[in-house]
Amino acid sequence: MRDSSPDWIARSKLVLFPLFLCPLFWLMWSGFGGRLGPDPAKTFVNQNGLWAFRFLLLCLAMTPLRYLTRRSFWGRYRRMLGLFAFFYACVHVISYVFLLFGGRWSEIVVELAKRPYIMVGATAFLMLIPLAITSTRGWQRKMGRGWVRLHTLIYPAAFLVLLHFLWVKKLGLEAIWPYALLLVLLIGVRVWKRYMLSLSKV
Ligand code: HEM
Repeated sequence: MRDSSPDWIARSKLVLFPLFLCPLFWLMWSGFGGRLGPDPAKTFVNQNGLWAFRFLLLCLAMTPLRYLTRRSFWGRYRRMLGLFAFFYACVHVISYVFLLFGGRWSEIVVELAKRPYIMVGATAFLMLIPLAITSTRGWQRKMGRGWVRLHTLIYPAAFLVLLHFLWVKKLGLEAIWPYALLLVLLIGVRVWKRYMLSLSKV
């Protein structure tokens, strides 16, 4: 696979960075302008959760794009997309705690026990924390093969987010199926590639 000039990748990231912040600014702008519907706090929480999932899927799409196009530069966007997924997940969780519950932890604990889908989301969130912390090249070098093993956590985390989403929507599949299909496809491409590699080794 050909590697590309790092120059335009770095430049493209300068454009992508503010672009990826737009959903948050748009939601804040709409919220202050009273355009987030009858329950703006809930819409804000939900929309940030949705953006976190979208960035997670985009991050997972980089490797299949690398296979399909035989260009390695896609991998250079993975870290940025993963960190944006984590960023939106943080905004989702922080706004859940402070906008929906005003930081009343005792109520949140009761809510956790009452609604298992929140436990599922929290588990996915906990899995994303070490991935975000160790996403730097320094950690990658320090951890060696352990880094690759740790970062496979992204797959169960993505499936837990899907389950969290399904549970929130009470299996209202019309909103979820494009995300579910994309996730299955993105994981499927990896499984297929591994299978083909194992065949070529025989
Ligand atoms: C401590 C962690 C988490 C908590 C407490 C939490 C809580 C919530 C709550 C309360 C809702 C809305 C439920 C409703 O509308 O009644 C929700 C929806 C959602 N969350 Fe989370 N969540 C967490 C983690 C995550 C993570 C890590 C992601 C993605 C990376 C995520 C993605 C979503 C999505 C996609 C929705 C559905 C949005 C929609 O209805 O359009 N959540 N979450």
